[in-house]
Amino acid sequence: SIYSISALILAYLFGSIPTAVWIGQAFYNVDVREYGSGNAGATNTFRVLGKKAGIPVMLIDILKGWTATNLAYFIGISTTGAFHSTAFVNFQLALGITAVMGHLFPIFAGFRGGKGVATLFGMVLAVHLQASLLCVTVFIVVLLITRYVSLSSILASFTYLIGVTFIFPLYIKSVVIYGMCICVLILVTHQKNIERLLKGKESKVNLFKRKTT
Ligand code: G3P
Repeated sequence: SIYSISALILAYLFGSIPTAVWIGQAFYNVDVREYGSGNAGATNTFRVLGKKAGIPVMLIDILKGWTATNLAYFIGISTTGAFHSTAFVNFQLALGITAVMGHLFPIFAGFRGGKGVATLFGMVLAVHLQASLLCVTVFIVVLLITRYVSLSSILASFTYLIGVTFIFPLYIKSVVIYGMCICVLILVTHQKNIERLLKGKESKVNLFKRKTT
């Protein structure tokens, strides 16, 4: 319907808000895409500008995915199906993925955006709280052990797939399909990171600001 199409467009526009680029330009006069990994995401903002910029970017990027996914509640049961029904959850996931597409290809920043980790997390948080908590746990553990955000993101996406398939199934088959798509999406957006990881050249984050090399 016209309502679902408008909600999808709105989800894309939300996702398109280039938080990393705008915060960098507004407060530091820097386009983070010209430094570090070149990615317009929270990790690279943290790397280039520090945690005062990186944390807000992370939170806003999560909020974009969460808000877009929850647009499903605003357009009514008649269009989406009863809340938490299969049709409703499918529509939530479609909205979330659309926001992620906005984040990857932002209309407000020359279609050069981020890798979708935070925005995907916002979607998962909105749809599947338990699975999202498991993902965060895995993400933090891997990050503390390896200090590679990219590896943490990749393993967190696999955790989501395993979580929705075996641990906390929503009894909606498409959620598993979406879980697979999320893994593929993360692998595709992290191709360069994977190459660097394999060569031992991926940059580590300095979580506690101790100067190491
Ligand atoms: O936020 C995406 C993260 O997984 C990797 O970012 O900047 O290290 O390529 P980056």
